[in-house]
Amino acid sequence: MRLTEQEQAMLNGEFGPGFARAMRVLVGIGKAFGAQRMVPISRGHISLSNQEGDLWFVSQMLEEGAHCRVPPTVNPAYDYEYFKTVSQLDGENERILKSTIDVYRKLGAVLTFDCTPFFENNVPRFGEICSFSASGGAVYVNSVLGARSNREAAQSAMCAAITGVTPEYGLLLKENRAGDVLIRVEADAATEYDYELLGYCTPKKMGQAYHQPVFEGLSPQTTAEQLMNLGTQLNVHGIVPMFHVAGVTPEAPDVETAFQGRKDYPVVTVTDEDLAQARREISAGAGKADFCILGCPHLTIGQVGSIAAMLEGQKLAGQLYIFTSTSTRELARRMGYLDVIHAAGGEIVINSCVDQPCWSHLNGMSGVTESPKCAYYTKRWNMAFTVKSIPACIQSVLKGEIVE
Ligand code: F3S
Repeated sequence: MRLTEQEQAMLNGEFGPGFARAMRVLVGIGKAFGAQRMVPISRGHISLSNQEGDLWFVSQMLEEGAHCRVPPTVNPAYDYEYFKTVSQLDGENERILKSTIDVYRKLGAVLTFDCTPFFENNVPRFGEICSFSASGGAVYVNSVLGARSNREAAQSAMCAAITGVTPEYGLLLKENRAGDVLIRVEADAATEYDYELLGYCTPKKMGQAYHQPVFEGLSPQTTAEQLMNLGTQLNVHGIVPMFHVAGVTPEAPDVETAFQGRKDYPVVTVTDEDLAQARREISAGAGKADFCILGCPHLTIGQVGSIAAMLEGQKLAGQLYIFTSTSTRELARRMGYLDVIHAAGGEIVINSCVDQPCWSHLNGMSGVTESPKCAYYTKRWNMAFTVKSIPACIQSVLKGEIVE
């Protein structure tokens, strides 16, 4: 790789051992992927994971004197103030969580603790070079905003934030951003939940060999929430760093442009029966709805508003947890949604992720969620979910029983 004088100086240790370590990691990645050079990043987002390995890595960086030249936003962690009112965190998890947050703060990360920074605090423009980890965030900024980021690990994104550069390969290069399989949607995908089902069934239909689907046949009025759901679920059962929607996303004004002129792509059709099958696979279930968790990824103010409208004047039979960002919760408070949700017996939770050790009080109970990702990730916390649309989840937790 050709390095600039400054990059070489960092690698040589002239900025200190922490910067040298970060540059070594990036040079290693660059060589592995055949990058010719480093390019500056102007934004980053890190999926801090509250796991021992992540804590070890960032602690090394801090001890060696590194700090972030490009301060990144970070994924959700854990809201102590709220969760101490409902459950008990065990000592080891508490140590890792508190230490992780402390080290990220000292390294200079921006502690947004949300997984949708691309909506509010960290919104890249078209073509901007970034380093985003978190599979949902990377796919959204590439696909919907047209920014350029590889699907980074927390560690490589941290190294980019520290050095301010990233190796130029993969999705940073225009020729690698073309679609590789056409998904002809003949199904009637109308709701946010339909886009979750589409994201769930597409990787199964297109197979493991393809990673950049081009969707044809979706509405030009497709919303940001629908695209977020599609990208998130595509990465639960597949590896999809980028997708295109013809006539909707910025690098796909039409199918031909999305494939950058290539003609030899396979075509896969998704029908109403495919969505119905996906619905049967993930939404089958009856019985009690003791609790409901919504917001994986974090909900937008529009989604929170629609939930408040469904809860107006009602009392929940089960427990309701709605995950969102700090600024969205504040907006919800100003707009009266929070009062409505509280009056019904629900809560809006910030700074937190469904995939954290905060659910011991729900052990043995039955839950509903709108997110196949939530249902999948929380298996490690011994949680059982039935996946339904947001309206069906709300109706279920109002009644205490799963409804269609
Ligand atoms: Fe966000 Fe955690 Fe789900 S980071 S997307 S709430 S697994």
